[in-house]
Order: sequence, then C-alpha cells, then structure tokens
Amino acid sequence: MTTGPLSTPPSEARNHPVNPWWVDAVIYQVYPRSFADADGDGMGDLAGVIAQLPYLEELGVDAIWLSPFYVSPQRDGGYDVADYRDVDPLFGRLEDAERLLDAAHEAGLRVVVDLVPNHTSSDHPWFVEAVSADPDTESGRAVRDRYMFRPGTGEDGAEPPNNWQSTFGGPAWTRITNPDGTPGDWYLHLFDSSQPDLNWESTEVRHEFEDILRFWLDRGVDGFRVDVAHGLVKAEGLPDHHARPGMVTDAAPLAAAVDPDAGEDVAGHREANPQDHAHPVPYHDQEGVHEIYRSWNAVLAEYDHDPVLVAEAWVSPLERLFRYVRPGEMHQAFNFTFLLAGWDAVRMSDAITVSVQEAEKVGAPNTWVLSNHDTVRHASRFGLADPTRYPNGLGAEDEQPDEALGWKRGRAAAMIELGLPGSAYIYQGDELGLPEHTTLDDSLRQDPTFVRTEGAEKGRDGCRIPLPWRADAPGFGFAVGHHADTRPPVTPATPGHDAGAAPVAPAAPWLPQPESYGTYAADRQVDVAGSTFELYRQLLGIRGELDLGTGTFAWSRFHSPELGVLAFTVATGGGQGGYDLDSGDHIPEKVALVMANMGQAAVEVPEEYAAAIFSHDEAMQDGQLMPDSAAWFLRR
Ligand code: GLC
Repeated sequence: MTTGPLSTPPSEARNHPVNPWWVDAVIYQVYPRSFADADGDGMGDLAGVIAQLPYLEELGVDAIWLSPFYVSPQRDGGYDVADYRDVDPLFGRLEDAERLLDAAHEAGLRVVVDLVPNHTSSDHPWFVEAVSADPDTESGRAVRDRYMFRPGTGEDGAEPPNNWQSTFGGPAWTRITNPDGTPGDWYLHLFDSSQPDLNWESTEVRHEFEDILRFWLDRGVDGFRVDVAHGLVKAEGLPDHHARPGMVTDAAPLAAAVDPDAGEDVAGHREANPQDHAHPVPYHDQEGVHEIYRSWNAVLAEYDHDPVLVAEAWVSPLERLFRYVRPGEMHQAFNFTFLLAGWDAVRMSDAITVSVQEAEKVGAPNTWVLSNHDTVRHASRFGLADPTRYPNGLGAEDEQPDEALGWKRGRAAAMIELGLPGSAYIYQGDELGLPEHTTLDDSLRQDPTFVRTEGAEKGRDGCRIPLPWRADAPGFGFAVGHHADTRPPVTPATPGHDAGAAPVAPAAPWLPQPESYGTYAADRQVDVAGSTFELYRQLLGIRGELDLGTGTFAWSRFHSPELGVLAFTVATGGGQGGYDLDSGDHIPEKVALVMANMGQAAVEVPEEYAAAIFSHDEAMQDGQLMPDSAAWFLRR
C-alpha cells in the first residue's frame, strides 16, 4: 500500500534559520500581457502589476516571477527579446520596472525576472548586424559567430544544414539573403524564425549574458527564471534527429513506461513523443549547459540578497532534471513531471516519490508547478475525459472539458501542490480556479505554434487570456486603471482641448475573455467564503504558519495510489519536535496529513487530526472524503 517514509531533502539544513528565501517560497507567475492593464490600451503593463500588488499581498505569496517585459516585437509574446536591458513601451519604461521592484519589496514580495538566453529576437541589433555582414570578411564572420549560421547542403546550399524541426513546427533553419542579393547561409531557430539561436560557444555571448545578469541584479531583482535552460548547447556536428521534440511532451513522466517507438517522424506532430533515450535530442540537455550555469551561479554569489536561478528545463527522466540544481548550479528547476502527471494518483505518486528521492541526492528543494503560460490550464486539463492528457491548446472543435469537474479537481490539486515541502509556483489565475479559453476564434490566435503547425496545434493563447478582475466591468475590469469604465464610451477629446477632462474608454483586452470568466472574477472571490481565492489564501496561511515548505515528507499509511488515494504527511518542528534556536524553547512537532481522492469511491479519513480544511463544500460527506476532492488534516 504505502511506499514507506521518505525524508525531505535536506531536512537538517532546511530547518535552519539561515535557509535562503527561495527554499520554500510560493512564487506567483505574472504574464505581464494579461495580468492588469493600467493605461487602458488593452495590453497588461508594469503599472498594472504595481496597481495589483495589494491583491498578491492579500493572497499571501512570497514572490512574483514576471514573464518577459523587455523590448520585443512580440512575435512570441516577448520571448523574442530585442533589448535585454530595457522595457518594451507596451509595458512601460525602465523606470516602471524599477518602481515595481521598489513597490514589491516594500510589500514584502521578491521579484524574479525572465531571462531568455537560447535565442534573441531577429530584431536584436546583433542579428540585424549579422544578417547585413559580409561573411567573407573577418569582422563579418565575427558578428555572425554570435549565432548559429551554417552553409546549406545539396545543390547550391539550397537544403538546410540538417533535418532539425522547430519546437513550434516547421523547419528549424531559415536561409538568409546576403547583402549583395545572393542566397546566403542558414541560421538555426529552435523556435520561431524570428528567434535565432545564439551560439553559446562564443565568449562574447557568455560575457554579454553575465553582464545582463548584473544589470538586473544591480537593480535589485531577486532572481531569474531561465528560459529553455536545456537548449543552449547543441551537440557537436549538429547531427540529424529523427523527431520533433515538443516543449511539453519531452518530459513525459515515466518515460520508460511509454513506448519509445510511439515518437513521431520528423514532420509529424508531437502528441505521442516521449524522450527517446536511445536517440538523445542533439539540442536538448547537453552536458555543456551545466558549465554555463556554474558561471552564472558565481555571478549571483557576488550579491548578498540570495538571488535565485530557476531552470525551465523540459528534460526527463527526473534524475536528469535534478542535475540542473546540483550544488553550484541553479537553485530550482520546475518539476514538469509533476505537472504532466495529470489527475492520476499513480502517476502523481510516482512523480512525487522520484522527485523527493532525486532532490535529496543533490540537496536541492523541490519546485512544484501545475500550470504556466505554455500549458492548458490544469482546471481544464483535469476536466478532460482523460485527465492525464496535455494537448497543446484546445479549440472549439476539440473535446470540451467538463468545467465543473475540472474546477473541483483543480482546487484539490492545489491542496496537493501547496502541501508538498519545497517551493511552489502559482500561475496567474490559478488562484481564481480559472479555466482555459477553449473556444477562442482561430482568427484571433497569436501563438506562432498555431501558424507554424498550420492549425494542427491550437497553441497557448487559451491560457494567456487577460485576467478578470471585476465581473460587471467591460473586459471584466482588465483595465484596472479605469474605474470609470462602466460608463458608455465617449468621443476622444478634440486635439488642443483639455484631454484630461474627457474620460476615454479603455480598449478591449488584447484577447477576448470567454463569458464564463465573469463568475471567476477576482471581485466575486476576494473575501467570499468558499471561493477558490479564499481557499488559496487559507492554504498559504497554514502552509506558512506550520512551515510546511520546509517540513519532512512521508507517504502516509492511507496512501493507496492504485485505489486513487494520494496521502502524505508533512512534519515540521523536527522529528520529535525541535528547539527554538534563540530561546531554547521546545517546539512541538506539527503534522499535516494531505489527502486527495482521485479515485471513484469515497474513502475513510483518519480520526486523530484536530482540524481540517477541504477542497470544496461537498468534499466531505458522512465522514468520508468524496472523489475529486482533497483535504488537509492538521494534528497539533
Ligand atoms: C519557453 C517559454 C515559451 C517560449 C519558449 C521560447 O518555453 O516558456 O513561452 O515560447 O521558451 O522562448
């Protein structure tokens, strides 16, 4: 039944008061385009984030991670950076970033920013220079050497250098035209053609990124989420690869249990595409990436505010992932195996068991995550007929999730995630129980994946819909700076007239929200008993009070994944209790039991726990925990 107790890594060190803040931090992901719009142009901005900081304080998170807000043509939602040291006018100015840092710190929130080192935008001055350079000169070769340019193959070099496919679909190579009009070399782009891959063999590239780290650290950022951390180094000779590895499906949990021959051919789609260990991906998880992170770790160590490096690395098995958080490298890595386990007790149990074991080996904390800006929101994934599926987007003609079921399971999953020791990431809207927009009109889609797969994959727009703040306001109050926005639109002021006198109606959000978002709006949930927001707030409060984030994990005697029951205990205060290091007072052991019922039948719950909290009002009936529910039982 149970797999026996596992100790949580590294328990002795973690219960020490000098633990860095990130060891057990709950970090809230802000996707700036869709969080809050202060200037009313339909696009979220940094001033919007500042305006909503009190909401995040109320929720009780420790930090925010901001997806990119840098200068960018926005061909991949800002993950195509043209200037790493400035803010895109869409989001504000550099001073707004500085203001945000100050305001967040004042509110007791740390700020992690996104770093995109695998590629720049094709609008980056380096790439513009590279394309216009004469490759037959020394200086031309030098500027091209910052990227991955290669001659083509076949007659006149008309074929790409190898058969690699872009993660977003289509070929991973694009040919340029030389300044003299002749066809030139090809450049590599693992993502969109507007995202040329940098050459990490170049010392200039390495120095540039160390400098970018310092630029933001000097401004007080508390860390970096490192985009595509597994992709920077490519295998020597750039050998062909037989498949198109997806961003998500690479890290299929329990890869060994999946038929490796189920992978696709080069032009195929990625629904069934587990990492094939017999044919490692020549552009993922190469040994050389680790040396880069060791050098970054040294840069961060120059600062005394404990900045964190978080790896976005879609690698499997978990043993490979934890190599990114060995001492002297990164500090955290998103656990996508946990995310991909879906609503399935056996898969989730295995993911947790292996994560706890592997984390212990390297002495790093675990980092749990259920959703982000690249995945279908878990409230919707868990409402699919197969709640372990992770399609790349959903459209009107696809299977539609059972929204009520997904809502229930999403809340229960949050109780698992936030009960586990380590650090946890909340994607904006998780705390509202927000579902995916699953019927977005194709004509509005902006994710390059949709275009590059010719619509075969809907892509990620459905999880990036602007947040609903107020149920009764236009755009569900996304324009947070426009509290007069319930008035009818007015004619803009005549030029030369006092513009301040004429209220201008805010523009519609950049992606439309589905009707149902009104019921999920923040103003319908904050201070409303039983709401998802209040559940999250309560869980975060208890988590903090009991120090669950630094507690000791063990599967409980109730754990029975084959029956759909996930149950673990988290003990804090030391095995037999502990001692306060200042006063010497004895601190009694506190134990929380986290139970989730992912099965079909109601299950018995323990009697020896004094207090309990449930995932929703009907979770507990006749003394039994109902299917699709979870509970925290607290023993004091
Ligand atoms: C990461 C980001 C994703 C982006 C991709 C390319 O996976 O999370 O949004 O499209 O990298 O930068």
